[in-house]
Amino acid sequence: MVVKSLLIVVSYHHKNTEKIASVFARVLEAQIRTPKQIHPEELQEYDLIGFGSGIYDAKHHTDMLDLANRLPQVTNKKAFIFSTSSHMGDDQVTKDHSILKEKLQSKGYVIVDEFSCKGFNTNSFLRHFGGMNKGRPNAEDLEHAEEFATNLVQKG
Ligand SMILES: Cc1cc2nc3c(=O)[nH]c(=O)nc-3n(C[C@H](O)[C@H](O)[C@H](O)COP(=O)(O)O)c2cc1C
Repeated sequence: MVVKSLLIVVSYHHKNTEKIASVFARVLEAQIRTPKQIHPEELQEYDLIGFGSGIYDAKHHTDMLDLANRLPQVTNKKAFIFSTSSHMGDDQVTKDHSILKEKLQSKGYVIVDEFSCKGFNTNSFLRHFGGMNKGRPNAEDLEHAEEFATNLVQKG
């Protein structure tokens, strides 16, 4: 069965998350849209929806959280969550993902998997020191993204 997939992405700081989303888009043969380009009813058409952004103030972008609030209730629709961030450890990433994850779960989405990796960060004082995580996502991160998406396809 062909899995019809869509990616909803916000990536404004250094387009870090967009780099990951582009790999997912190629493997899943999916379009990439912003939350503002989404009419919630049209999501019915898709079997698998990826929701991803940078992490800003310990959560996904507010446009993404607003979209999640606007989504109609669904039954067991498959979704995955992804992000790029300073990535201060797995526990922190779990926390950073939890707001979006809980909102989507409350609407009936089943979160089949989650992906995260480091992204270049020049927010605030960091810009005076050349930023943090320069060069990320790098080629290895993109390879991990490819493996993640391939695995999603195989899971169906
Ligand atoms: C306003 C702002 C707030 C941020 N807050 C966090 C944060 O709370 N935790 C974190 O790990 N990274 C934080 N970052 C770093 C971003 O998550 C990281 O640079 C990410 O890769 C940006 O993604 P983008 O280029 O797709 O927008 C912040 C960046 C900005 C610009």
